[in-house]
This record gives sequence, C-alpha cells and structure tokens, in this order.
Amino acid sequence: MPIVVVVGGQWGDEGKGRIVDLLARKAKVVARYSAGNNAGHTIVNERGEFKLNLVPAGIFYPEKTCVIGNGVAVDPGVLLGEIEGLQAKGIDTSKLVLSDRAQLVMPWHIALDKLDEASRGATAIGTTGKGIGPCFVDKVARRGIRVADLLRPEDLIPRMKNSLDYANRVITGVYGGEPIDFDSCYQAYHDYGLRLSPYIADVQGVVFDAHRRGEYVLLEGAQGSLLDLDHGTYPFVTSSVPSSSSGGAAIGVGIGPTDIQRVVGVFKSYCTRVGNGPFPTELFDDVAATLRDHGKEFGRGEYGTTTGRPRRIGWLDAVAARYSVRFNGLSALALTRLDVLDNMPTIKICTGYELDGKIISSFPSRESTLERIKPIYEELPGWMTPTTEVRTFDDLPPQARAFIKRVEELLECPVDLISVGPSREQAVIVNPIF
Ligand code: GDP
Ligand code: IMO
Ligand code: MG
Repeated sequence: MPIVVVVGGQWGDEGKGRIVDLLARKAKVVARYSAGNNAGHTIVNERGEFKLNLVPAGIFYPEKTCVIGNGVAVDPGVLLGEIEGLQAKGIDTSKLVLSDRAQLVMPWHIALDKLDEASRGATAIGTTGKGIGPCFVDKVARRGIRVADLLRPEDLIPRMKNSLDYANRVITGVYGGEPIDFDSCYQAYHDYGLRLSPYIADVQGVVFDAHRRGEYVLLEGAQGSLLDLDHGTYPFVTSSVPSSSSGGAAIGVGIGPTDIQRVVGVFKSYCTRVGNGPFPTELFDDVAATLRDHGKEFGRGEYGTTTGRPRRIGWLDAVAARYSVRFNGLSALALTRLDVLDNMPTIKICTGYELDGKIISSFPSRESTLERIKPIYEELPGWMTPTTEVRTFDDLPPQARAFIKRVEELLECPVDLISVGPSREQAVIVNPIF
C-alpha cells in the first residue's frame, strides 16, 4: 500500500492540514516529518476548528497512529499544551507517538531567534520567533538535545550544560543579551520528560511496519517548498533539516525514498507569503485586501495561524509553482481555497517573468533577480458564483473548470483534489489519491 507525502507547494499555509485531515480517512499512520511549531495547520471537521502546530492532522481519527518524526524540532512545552488542549476538547491522543530521535527546542533557541532577527534590522527574515532556526543550527552543529535525552538525567544534564554554555556565550558576547539560567531550564525539561514519556518511542519501526503490513501511511509536510533551505528563496527560507519539501519526508520518519509512492502538492488557487523575501506576484491593491479578508468575519482571513501576521497576497505564480512541482516530484496537485476566487470578475495567473527586456520561464535562484523580475500575466474570466457547495468536477462553473485545466497545463501535473471550503466535506475529489 502506498506511502503518500503531502507537501506545501508555495510559501506555506496552502491548506496542508485540511488536506491531510481529509486524506487521513484511509491511512493507518499519519506522520509529521519536519519543522516545528513554526507550522500552524488548521483543521475544520465535525469536532470543531483546530490549529495544530506539532501534532499530525490525523489525530481526529481515534484509530490512527499519529507520529511526530525524528525530523521534527519539538518544543516540549508547546507539545504538551497542544495535547492537553486536544484532550480538553475530547480528542483521544493515546495513539500519538513522539520520536526519541527528534530534536528539542530549548529556551535559548527562542532567545537566539529573536536576538538574531533584531540584529539583522532591515534584512530580517521575518521568522515566527519560535526558535526553530537556532534549534536546527544546533542539530547540524551536533550540539542539539534530543527527546531521548529527556528520559535520562545523566544524558540531559551534561548535554544541556554544553548547549547552554555555548548559547550563553553567543547571547552575551555577540548580542549583549542576558544569559539564561541552567537550573530553571533543567527543572522544566526534566518535568516535560516525565509528562511526555508515555508518548516517546522509536518511530522508525512504527512507520516501516505499517507499510510492510500493507497499510496506508500519510507523511505530513510543513511549510512550503519555496521556503526550502536548498530550493527556496534563500536566505528568506526556513531552516528545517531534513527539508520540508518531499525530499525530506523519508529522512524525517526513517524510511527510504523507494518506500514513497506518491507526492501530493498543496497549492492555493492564488498565492500568499508571511515573513520577508521575494514574492514576484505580490499585490498591494484592492484585490489583495479582498482576498485577504475573505472569511475574516469568521476568523478565516489570510492572517498567520501561528503568529496572526497578515499574509502577503498575490496571484498564482505558475513559474514558481512548476519549479516546485519539479523538485518535489509531484504526482498530483490539491488546489485549495478555490472558493476565495468566487467573487473575482477576472483571475490572473503568472505564466512567465520579464527580466531586463527578456522573457524567462524558469525560477531564478538569486534573491536580487527575483526582486527585479516583472510577472507576465494571463487573464481568465472569473465565475462569479459560489462553489462552496460543489462536490463534483462537472458541477463546477465552466470558468472554474477552465481555470483548473489551465493550472494543470502550466504546472504540468494533474489536479486530483479541489478544496472549496475549510471543512472536511468541502472537497471535489477528481481522482482518489489513495
Ligand atoms: P497549512 O499551514 O498549509 O495547514 O494552512 P493553514 O491552516 O495555515 O492556512 C490555511 C487556511 O485556509 C486555514 O484557515 C484553513 O481553514 C483554510 N482553508 C483550507 N482550505 C480551504 C478552502 O478550500 N477554502 C477556504 N475558504 N478556506 C480553506
Ligand atoms: P505551515 O506549515 C508559512 C516562514 C516564516 C518566515 C520563514 C522563516 O503552517 O505552512 P522560521 O520561524 O521558520 O525560521 O521562519 O518561514 N514560515 C512559514 N510561513 N507557513 C509556515 O508553516 C511557516 N513556517 C515558517 O514566516 O518567513
Ligand atoms: Mg499554516
């Protein structure tokens, strides 16, 4: 049975949580494979509306095993808060498993994230401030502390001392900040270890065994591919190691690339970005305001799930999207928020870029080039009719079908799933993914 990866195709917040919640119906295991609580995945189902930062979006099905993989950066206080929040709403979290190999976000990672951002001034990345970048820096520097360490004070104490000692030298020496106290951190993390211990396991076997037994496994990506450390708009990217794009999925849960059968890329019908960095199709006019505030009265406008920041808005960028299709090896697209375009008389898609009088159709690697290019748009007629109740492709207005067909052509990938609202049932399944 297939292992399917769900990955964000743009700059994050494409609706991955919503798509995973839908696809999880058939899966036995749902696993997050990268990033940390910089991610915020919204799920609207018969249990209510939920915003998950670390817990996989399969948690609403009590019989599914939900895995937080070795590739995830785990803030244990945030995770415990999330688990308790879910339990308070009657959600069963007993089948949640946390990898003993996952890295821990420590208080000094959060401090360093904020100090580093402040020191960058006008060139700040616009991070979520959750300490995720510094946590992955420590992982790569082999100074990180892992979930397994929480269970053994004889490992936790020296590792925390080593990591904190280095962090304090940077905090005080480089940034002139206040050093962080070991004792209070140790007490907090010792306590987190005790409370998280029922969930901690070697998850590699959980995913591998389910696959071998012939069960469906869903690997839930975080962020978007254009925030990828290698392929994204560097340096305005996130720091996940392994990468949040599909290439990181196998590493982040401990399987091999040949175990993965399908990769589904989630794309909005337009485009958004939070934080700084190039965004070729960004809009600053009334269209941006209209798209941003669609559903705002229900708390569902384009404002960050994790930070509440207004999201930057633009038209669908087919050049960037096709690049993302290619480096993720996408087998299908899930197109979300189609309904947000319901009242647009005209819809634009960027089909190329103009650079110094020449037309280019590839995604430039340099930030300075991305800042200079001018998008070339194709205009399509809007449908000016609600789609939120539509459940089959043929029932979509003809202009919406034409838009979707054009997206398939430009991105060179079939649209197998269309989302026309935030709730689980507001979907048009063109081709079943499982
Ligand atoms: P994620 O990080 O990729 O999981 O996405 P977020 O949850 O951060 O942001 C997506 C937002 O769009 C959430 O508020 C979802 O509830 C909402 N959403 C997802 N799909 C649809 C859709 O098809 N239509 C509408 N109107 N909202 C959607
Ligand atoms: P989900 O999974 C949107 C962005 C931040 C910032 C950059 C680096 O909900 O799609 P970081 O805190 O990771 O060092 O910030 O990455 N970013 C996201 N943007 N959705 C996310 O996750 C994001 N995770 C990080 O806004 O620009
Ligand atoms: Mg999000």
